[in-house]
Amino acid sequence: MPSTSKAKAGSISRSTRQKIEGILDKVIKDFSPTENEKKMIIFYSNMLTTRLKSVVPKSVEIAWVGSTARGTQLRGSSDIDIFLLFPRHMDKEQIKKKGLEYAKKTVKPGANESYVIKYAEHPYLKLFLKDIGITADIVPAFKISDAKERITAVDRTQLHNEFMSEKLSQVQKKQVIALKMFLKSHGIYGAGARYEGFSGYLCELLIYHYGSFIGVLENAASLKLPVLIDPLTRANGSLTQTKDSVARFKKEFIVIDPTDKNRNVAAVVSDESLGRLIAISKMMLEKPSLEFFYGPRYSDTYSARKISNIRKNLGIDLYLLAFKIPDITEEIIWQQTRRFGHQIGGILKKNGFPPIIELENVSEKEAIIAFFISETSHRHKIAEGPSIFMGSAAAKFLKSHQKSLGIFFSNNRIYALEDSQYKGAKQVVNKALESLESAPRYLEKKNVKIYVNDIPEGLAKLLYEAFVRRTSL
Ligand code: CTP
Ligand code: MG
Repeated sequence: MPSTSKAKAGSISRSTRQKIEGILDKVIKDFSPTENEKKMIIFYSNMLTTRLKSVVPKSVEIAWVGSTARGTQLRGSSDIDIFLLFPRHMDKEQIKKKGLEYAKKTVKPGANESYVIKYAEHPYLKLFLKDIGITADIVPAFKISDAKERITAVDRTQLHNEFMSEKLSQVQKKQVIALKMFLKSHGIYGAGARYEGFSGYLCELLIYHYGSFIGVLENAASLKLPVLIDPLTRANGSLTQTKDSVARFKKEFIVIDPTDKNRNVAAVVSDESLGRLIAISKMMLEKPSLEFFYGPRYSDTYSARKISNIRKNLGIDLYLLAFKIPDITEEIIWQQTRRFGHQIGGILKKNGFPPIIELENVSEKEAIIAFFISETSHRHKIAEGPSIFMGSAAAKFLKSHQKSLGIFFSNNRIYALEDSQYKGAKQVVNKALESLESAPRYLEKKNVKIYVNDIPEGLAKLLYEAFVRRTSL
């Protein structure tokens, strides 16, 4: 039986509520698209639909989806998402090819229009309407009426649009804009690898599920993991349902896609992003302020000097790896940079140089991975053994660590304290680069530059941005 543990509401004082509502009014005014922008969006999506209609066969449906179709986009980031929905009997490769063909025919290249082909699970066309600063994605997909019929990853998008358009009230749509801005100004809006945060669709689901922006704040502030949020019933899962879902999705924060019960819309939300949402929600309820919506303002001039001061004040050393990167989707570079950073960070930790902070950042031409490591890092490593009660495994561990500097126990587990074979973190970084044969494809090891403490201003800017993003709410 589904649980009826409804969202929590109404526990804040009337004056706090009034303050937040006043703030929301201003935020919504400031960040909703202007009337002119809205008119442009309608004009251009109609124009593109008309152009597409004249080139696609009758069997292909044209659907305007995404945030601009639902009026939930932020001011100045109006991306029109148009889907070409092909009948399911067609072949997947065929629809990709045909989809692009039709899309290209609708572009009128010239001073105002240009396009690039982008590659997600399958290619789509990104059109730039330059004079008005609007972009449009034209994406081929299959026409479906239920997620079970899904063939490509993007087929669900049309179902999201139907669900959200029907469910969100006008007031809630405006509050989605406020929520997006609340998250954006704390670096957690967006499902890409750069942010590992909350997608636009997830924001819409949270507003719908909890009823309002304040509802999201209250529930986020008191969130306990694991949690199973089911927007379809607007209830949270029972204990048993939650346990089952945690095992199935291998995540503790789960928001079930109302159009597809097999998808966790929050799958990419990192622990850090969730932690940040909880923290800022608590703080906003404690002391509501407009500040929460206007982003971190910091200057990145003299970044090298700033980094140097941080380093000295904290008594830590900086190790920075800089890679030149090819012209490839940012998402892939981000995934690879993060993965590589975590791998090297793990090796440093294992060898007695645990990074205090690990940071990654990506610009158009470079990717950086940086570690701040305690200057006084003890040049030892701790080998973790099995439980002392694990017969032969325990005996084997003891035998192979006979010469260690010390043996100790914690929670029945054996540990051996050993001299590190490395004299400094740089040696470990080098060793890690050598040993990680499966270095990500686009981060070429042979072109890496390693810096210790002193870094050029260009890289310092990238690093400082990542540092500010990581260390401030
Ligand atoms: N989508 C999704 N999951 C993602 C990205 C996209 O389900 N991680 C689907 C959603 O249905 C979304 C649509 O694709 O509404 C369009 O994606 P996108 O343009 O990235 O998001 P928007 O919802 O339009 O939000 P934004 O205002 O950021 O453009
Ligand atoms: Mg969009």
